Amino acid sequence: MCGIVGYVGESKAAPLLLDGLRALEYRGYDSAGAALMEDGAFTIVRRAGRVEQLSEPLAQLHSAAKIGIAHTRWATHGAPTEINAHPHISADGRWAVVHNGIIENADALRAELETLGIAFDSETDTEIIPQLLGRVSGFEDAEQGTPLDVLLDVLPLLEGSWALGILCANAPDKLLCACQGSPLLVGEGEDGLYLASDYAAFGENVHKVYRMTDGEIGVLTRDGAAFYDSRGQALTKPAEEFSHREQGGGKGSYTHFMRKEIDEQPLAVSRTLEQFFGGALHAAAAGDFRLPCQLPHSPRKVWLVACGSAYHACVSGKYVIEELARIPCEAVVASEFRYQYPLIGEEDLAVFVSQSGETADTLAAVREASARGAATLGVVNVAGSAIARACDAVLPTLAGAEIAVATTKAYSAQLAVLYALALHFAKEQAHEEPEFEEALRRLPESIQAALSTEDAAKAAAEQIAGADHAYFIGRNLDYAAALEGSLKLKEISYLHSEAYPAGELKHGTISLIEAGTPVIALACCERLLPKTAANIREVAARGARVFAVCARGNGEHWGTDSVISLQATHPLLMPSVEVIPLQLLSYHVARIRGCDIDKPKNLAKSVTVE
Ligand code: F6R
Repeated sequence: MCGIVGYVGESKAAPLLLDGLRALEYRGYDSAGAALMEDGAFTIVRRAGRVEQLSEPLAQLHSAAKIGIAHTRWATHGAPTEINAHPHISADGRWAVVHNGIIENADALRAELETLGIAFDSETDTEIIPQLLGRVSGFEDAEQGTPLDVLLDVLPLLEGSWALGILCANAPDKLLCACQGSPLLVGEGEDGLYLASDYAAFGENVHKVYRMTDGEIGVLTRDGAAFYDSRGQALTKPAEEFSHREQGGGKGSYTHFMRKEIDEQPLAVSRTLEQFFGGALHAAAAGDFRLPCQLPHSPRKVWLVACGSAYHACVSGKYVIEELARIPCEAVVASEFRYQYPLIGEEDLAVFVSQSGETADTLAAVREASARGAATLGVVNVAGSAIARACDAVLPTLAGAEIAVATTKAYSAQLAVLYALALHFAKEQAHEEPEFEEALRRLPESIQAALSTEDAAKAAAEQIAGADHAYFIGRNLDYAAALEGSLKLKEISYLHSEAYPAGELKHGTISLIEAGTPVIALACCERLLPKTAANIREVAARGARVFAVCARGNGEHWGTDSVISLQATHPLLMPSVEVIPLQLLSYHVARIRGCDIDKPKNLAKSVTVE
């Protein structure tokens, strides 16, 4: 989602800001802009569309400015137009602001300022901030208060969340920053100070990082960074050592990060599982299964809370925890959990699953569960992220940096952690599950074997790519996999698809099945095969083209058009195996349809607004 970069130092700011924005592109955005300050005057460049569109106009400025801020915007308030792109400027032209987050009382503040005669340029909530800064500093003699004083007066007027980068024409050597509920980092480099909303924006120059916490303000100059609390008291902040690594290790020989990350899944899952087995999964020295963190003993109920694909991992997790450990478990979408007055309490464990560790709804759900007394566990891929810090305990997924917006390897690592959690609870209840445990150790191999379905997935993609709609069906864990397969297909190929429990289709949606409608039928859940086979026959009888995903040579005689065959593993682990051909299918459909696979339109990698 939105990204912030800023710089003040000895070097020219424009190329450094552009490099920072490029590194943040993976987060998803729809417009970009930058403000450079030289001799107390701003130059602003903004464009709807890609960061690359800023590159030429910025170069043509030949600016020697050594201080600036820049932003990638993912539209919330107002369309993704040039006028709504950040930075926003105060009516008096003295303040420039970039902002991540949402100002919830922007409408009321805007109405007040408009009655005072201040005209707004954009439809954004962000513009309220420079306008307030301009107004507050304009009340008094502008020379009296420092920009820090003005900011200290303005921040208490705002409700919502923010990470801010601010320039003030009256203080041409200062870059101000502030954060509340939205991440912000200050990097110390050889040639100056860098501001960023994400580590990824820091290049090789940066060797120390200060992580800002809620309520803090920073004043950065070429001589160093000073930090203050919300009352303006100076703070001493510890810095973390930082060394730059290319995000995701680059694409290598792959055309897309997504395709590379699909292939990285055996490694992501094996690294993640090694934490539970004391090292390499099969080495003679491999230890017994053990949870690497403390959790409350046998909770009354387990809640699995997340958004999007991470929620789909939770749906699988619910089936597995209930079947293996016999503990009641509920999978809930984070944005619903928060407002449903959840009946969660001190005897419960709430598990929050998130690749980025920043998802606003999931973070808010952690706070809701904590306030209700539940123990909280984060399953996150980004160490030190907001969700990791907010939870009582953390079980990391060790998938490595995931760059493609559509998750693949982080999703697989999330499933692996949830299986391990199920095994832990089963053992606590004295249910020994040796077959499950052995199959779990071998899960990376099972996933590796599933990668050989690429030709079959590609052949199915060629037949599906021209369709307008597709349906995914399955029962039990196959339904959980269907949810993920359907989301993957629609988000990267823009082909409309829906997932249904296979037995549910005939209660309404089957009316949409006509000659040639693609139905992807997941039939790996052994004990329900006859039931799923009957549902496949129902859609085939109405003309659907059925692409079945099956194990053990099943599926040939159920009226299917084609069968993608998988090697079976433990039935409770099949979601990890069957999702592989679904990811490959989506990838090839999107490729055939000429879509921007790594950066699908309208999507963001980190969803930091509600
Ligand atoms: C889909 C996808 C999203 C995320 C969701 C949650 O491919 O990636 O649905 O799973 O936005 O994000 P995290 O896991 O960062 O909380």
